Amino acid sequence: MKRSVITGMGYYLPERIVTNADLEKMMNTSDEWIVQRSGIRERRYAAENEATADLGFYAAMRALEDAERKPEEIDRIIFATLSPDYYFPGSGGLVQERLGIEPMAALDVRNQCSGFLYGLDVADAFIRSGKARCVLLVGAEVHSRSLDYSDDGRHVAVLFGDGAGAVVIEGSDDGAGIKDAMLFAQGEYARELMVECPGTRSGLISPRMFEEKRIYPTMNGRFVFKHAVTRMVETTRRILEKNGLSTEDIDLYVFHQANLRINQMVSRELGLSEEKVFNNIERVGNTSAASIPIALCQARESGRLKRGDTVLLCGFGSGFTWGAILLEY
Ligand code: ACO
Repeated sequence: MKRSVITGMGYYLPERIVTNADLEKMMNTSDEWIVQRSGIRERRYAAENEATADLGFYAAMRALEDAERKPEEIDRIIFATLSPDYYFPGSGGLVQERLGIEPMAALDVRNQCSGFLYGLDVADAFIRSGKARCVLLVGAEVHSRSLDYSDDGRHVAVLFGDGAGAVVIEGSDDGAGIKDAMLFAQGEYARELMVECPGTRSGLISPRMFEEKRIYPTMNGRFVFKHAVTRMVETTRRILEKNGLSTEDIDLYVFHQANLRINQMVSRELGLSEEKVFNNIERVGNTSAASIPIALCQARESGRLKRGDTVLLCGFGSGFTWGAILLEY
């Protein structure tokens, strides 16, 4: 059976850099607080005329160029996001429109910070079953437009940035590609990190939702922190053990960029050496479904990711959802 290989990757970060000093002017916070708690120094915010599918489209074009594929060679689009252009329809179809290609299957994955991992697993299933030959997987977010910049939301607002990453996935017989995936969801903790309104549980949008600020993300920060570390360590160990590998057999760990402290703690618990773990949160912030593909691209740019490397991707996010993917790049 064919394996699914990443044949191209690309990312897009909006031009506007928002530093912690910029945030100090927008809300009651400090560079010291943000750096100490999250490791973040700056993030990007989309321009007024840029929405999630636009960012995704730019990243997709770069990934296609990298794969030496034309848009019309894609036969499926998967779009992972928690901040879609519209409540419905999804953003995958909007990327198909912007690519100017024939109608095809396009689906959105709604698994927050684990969205790229879930999307990669779906792409892998399409390729291995023969249902698709060339899948475009996009992870993109515009968080900046839906954050609470007041004291009530500042512990969340300072963490997030906008951006997009994309990969092209194709079948290969040469032994490289996705080797294993382990994904999990635990709805019991859905309300520990969420945007409650609007939705069918709370009703369509009302002035009261605005007054009560239920339209903004809420997060039980310490609870999320603890679970993220526990699950990422546990899942990394499980996927390694299942595949008869030790932590040393992995050339590069690319974790979801939620918080530098989470990744440092995970690395410490697993005993990983610093040069094997790629982090870019300092300059990008938390871009949820876009964070892993952006990190993969920047790891390659900096020479840390090379063809033939054994790579372990791992992430945790709202849902709670989490997972790990093992691949040979
Ligand atoms: N600037 C300044 N002060 C702040 C800010 C801010 N942006 N936000 C909160 N504070 C204050 C609080 O009001 C509180 O003040 P008080 O002691 O006077 O009451 C104090 O700082 C401590 O607040 P806590 O919320 O308890 O801070 P904590 O040490 O838990 O850090 C943080 C908050 C950074 C969110 C932490 O809980 C965390 O890292 N959680 C992990 C969550 C995460 O990374 N989420 C990312 C999204 S989910 C994902 O991608 C996996």
